[in-house]
Amino acid sequence: MQSHIMKEGVDSWESAMFLYRSAMKIVTTKLEILNDEFQHIHKYNPIEYVKSRLKTPESIVKKLKRNGFDSSMENMIEYINDIAGVRLVCSFTSDIYRLAEMIKKQRDFKVFAVKDYLEQPKPSGYRSYHLLVSVPVETSTGVVEVKVEIQIRTIAMDFWASLEHKIYYKFEGNAPEYISKDLQECAAIMSDLDAKMLSLNEAILEAQTIKE
Ligand code: GTP
Ligand code: MG
Repeated sequence: MQSHIMKEGVDSWESAMFLYRSAMKIVTTKLEILNDEFQHIHKYNPIEYVKSRLKTPESIVKKLKRNGFDSSMENMIEYINDIAGVRLVCSFTSDIYRLAEMIKKQRDFKVFAVKDYLEQPKPSGYRSYHLLVSVPVETSTGVVEVKVEIQIRTIAMDFWASLEHKIYYKFEGNAPEYISKDLQECAAIMSDLDAKMLSLNEAILEAQTIKE
């Protein structure tokens, strides 16, 4: 069956949200299976936990407006890429790239954009690896390609991003200078911590292989 990009045939808000929710479930399950397989082969879990969420109608409308689009279903489908969002949280930065490679190799996932905010952190100090993918969702009337945003980050990055997000909302994007500065300092500490934990872990793994 020919799959088509989600555009024609989505007749209501409910059916659009149904497709996004289904795509989110598919991505979550596939990633959990990858994690289980990895555990089975390497006795190691690259994913600590998976979180997922659907964007609320209010926040979809707000984002369309912020980007200068009318609130229509066509615009939502075309321009909002993070209606379905899945977040993978892992221990080490090396896990991030390992997971990204695993995702890129999945036959069903079409990766159409990648943003590496580890290589190039945001001015806020934000670090994470983002992939925009589309996955086929089978319905009784055909196969539809649905977009999902996957964010991959370490526990430290997730800790930082949650706090920054809270502050951002609290101050509606206009946090006082000293808070933004403290957050940037925390971002530097977070990135240092990730680097140290990674090299510690590598030292442990090396010591283990020498012993074996
Ligand atoms: P959005 O319009 O916010 O979706 O940004 P974008 O279209 O430029 O995409 P990008 O990949 O940069 O960001 C998408 C998502 O990453 C956001 O919805 C947040 O979940 C997260 N994110 C990006 N930048 C920041 C940041 O500075 N702080 C925090 N806490 N999260 C961020
Ligand atoms: Mg977003």
